[in-house]
Amino acid sequence: EKAGFDHFMLKEIHEQPKAYRDTMGSRISPDGRSVVFNELHMTTDDVKAIRRIHIVACGTAYHAGLVGKAVIEKLARIPVETDVASEYRYRSPIITPDTLVIVVSQSGETADTLAALREAKRCGARVLAITNVVGSSVAREADDVIVTWAGPEIAVASTKAYTSQLIAFYLFALFLAQTLGTVPADEIAATLAALNKLPEQVEDILAAKDAIKAYAEQIAAHEDLFFIGRGLDYAVALEGSLKLKEISYIHSEAYAAGELKHGTLALIEEGVPVIALAIQTDLFEKTVSNIKEVKARGANVLGIGYAGDEELQKSVDRTFAIPKTLDLLAPALSVVPLQLLSYYASLARGNDVDKPRNLAKSVTVE
Ligand code: F6R
Repeated sequence: EKAGFDHFMLKEIHEQPKAYRDTMGSRISPDGRSVVFNELHMTTDDVKAIRRIHIVACGTAYHAGLVGKAVIEKLARIPVETDVASEYRYRSPIITPDTLVIVVSQSGETADTLAALREAKRCGARVLAITNVVGSSVAREADDVIVTWAGPEIAVASTKAYTSQLIAFYLFALFLAQTLGTVPADEIAATLAALNKLPEQVEDILAAKDAIKAYAEQIAAHEDLFFIGRGLDYAVALEGSLKLKEISYIHSEAYAAGELKHGTLALIEEGVPVIALAIQTDLFEKTVSNIKEVKARGANVLGIGYAGDEELQKSVDRTFAIPKTLDLLAPALSVVPLQLLSYYASLARGNDVDKPRNLAKSVTVE
């Protein structure tokens, strides 16, 4: 049932190209110019009435929600807040009938996420669920559902469910944008074309996994490391750090690169591994200057950037390249080397990759 792979996690990482294709599926019109969400009950007037969006989720799904926030705000110009469900529930969030609450849950059974959904409905908000399980509690109770067609995810560490959630957010943000007219039709078509290329680009990254494996074997001996990035690269850094902690038990922190000098830089000393995501073009120079700050303190830096980026290559100890895409879509590529990194680091440490200590696949208690 592992289809020749040693672990479910590795199998699921390799299933991502298919998960992307299945999640896009019939949601892109045959001419490739628009998003079609037959399953949504939202009329144009319903979409125009949305004043704010709250995205609520836990763990990895929360990290997908951080990308969702950036993408919806950029494309649809609707204000979005993303919260961890266990915090959202107890902070008396301002939920009005013109709020759209999006809950994100692979299993559709996470207790805090379900409770947040119920609270949102009690306040009269419309609830959209992004979930991987048809017929789950979250799917049954939400007003609208976008199913991520990632297929069953067995490994405790979420991989293909996360990336399918990203695809769902890209499609939904484009749907909002085309309905509201906030993005020109040609730009929507160009973004959909770039989305369609992602599955093949993930294949290219997977084909280069030996380089990540070799690096993972080196960092497996460390107890602390750092992920840095700005903007969407920071959102991906958070997910990379969670994945590494979860299955390799190596302590790591993800930091917004510009925030380092406000405290964390004190922890950087000779030989500390730093994984720097430097993909977002408009923030690139700023991130490179943060890389120089950690290099000056002796950090050993792996830079993740677009293929052929010479400036990044000059600033770091080694690089791992991802294929060129739109910056907005880059998280769906840049997270893949980080998934592989945590997998191989866990393996090198002799851990039970698919069943990390203290964790359960579905958290149905608070
Ligand atoms: C991490 C992981 C967890 C889940 C979280 C939410 O790899 O899997 O952080 O993302 O427990 O679970 P769902 O998405 O089922 O609500």
